[in-house]
Amino acid sequence: MLVGMIIPDQTNPFFAELSFQLQIQLAQVSVPLVVLSSDGDAQREHKCLQTLNDLKVSGIVFVSAGDDSRVLDVLKTINKPHIIIDRELPPGTENCDFVISDNRAGIKLAVDHLISKGHRSLAFIKGCQNTDPGRVRLLAFREWVRKGGLNENDLYEFDGSFDYLSGYEAAKKILVIPKERRPTAIVASNDLSAIGALQCLHENGLKVPADISLVGFDDIVMCRWIYPRLTTVRQDTIALTRSAAVFLLSRIFGEYEQAPRLSPVVPQLIERQSTRDLT
Ligand code: RIB
Repeated sequence: MLVGMIIPDQTNPFFAELSFQLQIQLAQVSVPLVVLSSDGDAQREHKCLQTLNDLKVSGIVFVSAGDDSRVLDVLKTINKPHIIIDRELPPGTENCDFVISDNRAGIKLAVDHLISKGHRSLAFIKGCQNTDPGRVRLLAFREWVRKGGLNENDLYEFDGSFDYLSGYEAAKKILVIPKERRPTAIVASNDLSAIGALQCLHENGLKVPADISLVGFDDIVMCRWIYPRLTTVRQDTIALTRSAAVFLLSRIFGEYEQAPRLSPVVPQLIERQSTRDLT
């Protein structure tokens, strides 16, 4: 037996961690895992699915590169048990389940943390808006700052794409905001964009958290290596992959053949050194 996994970005440590944890879960029942990367390209994504089909995998754990209605047709054609993990897609077949972090709760943790420290002017660095986590985190930011009573004139949103460079570029735009109106904290949609913003701020003389606080999302290992260590929202990759393995194997062995199941996984705030108290 062999299980296949498709990730959208092999350069992002979050997906390396996710595939590593899935490998550990499957190794407990002596099932090997093969991992392919679509590198964010829909055509390559279809090719990866076809390759896994040609390898006669028994099931697939799938993280999509982004919205692409054709991928549901490919999944339907292959019609192997599959788990949609991390990036929700509309169900294309009955032969699938979903394992997703509660992204709305995760952004609430970040916003509440900053408000509790006296921050009232926040910037948000978006993730890819052609992905479910990118959209949900943006809408969640808007919801929780509104419910937190923040004035929309003190809120800023910048485009981002879940990578270092877009975080760096977003920080460049924050730097040109007049000092008296500059946000006192940044919420980034993932850690890589937070780290890109951190580098840009440091290169331009702004200290984190002394001048501006910073919160990421994912809790990749680099959060513990950089200075200051990054406060972030941890996605529980062990819980995500444990559910994915249980769901997938139950379908492969024919123990479950009903409607798609959804397993939301609760994230956790990991407070380190990149946010400060203004009160
Ligand atoms: O870091 C990459 C991001 O895209 C993560 O937050 C993950 O949820 C994925 O969707």
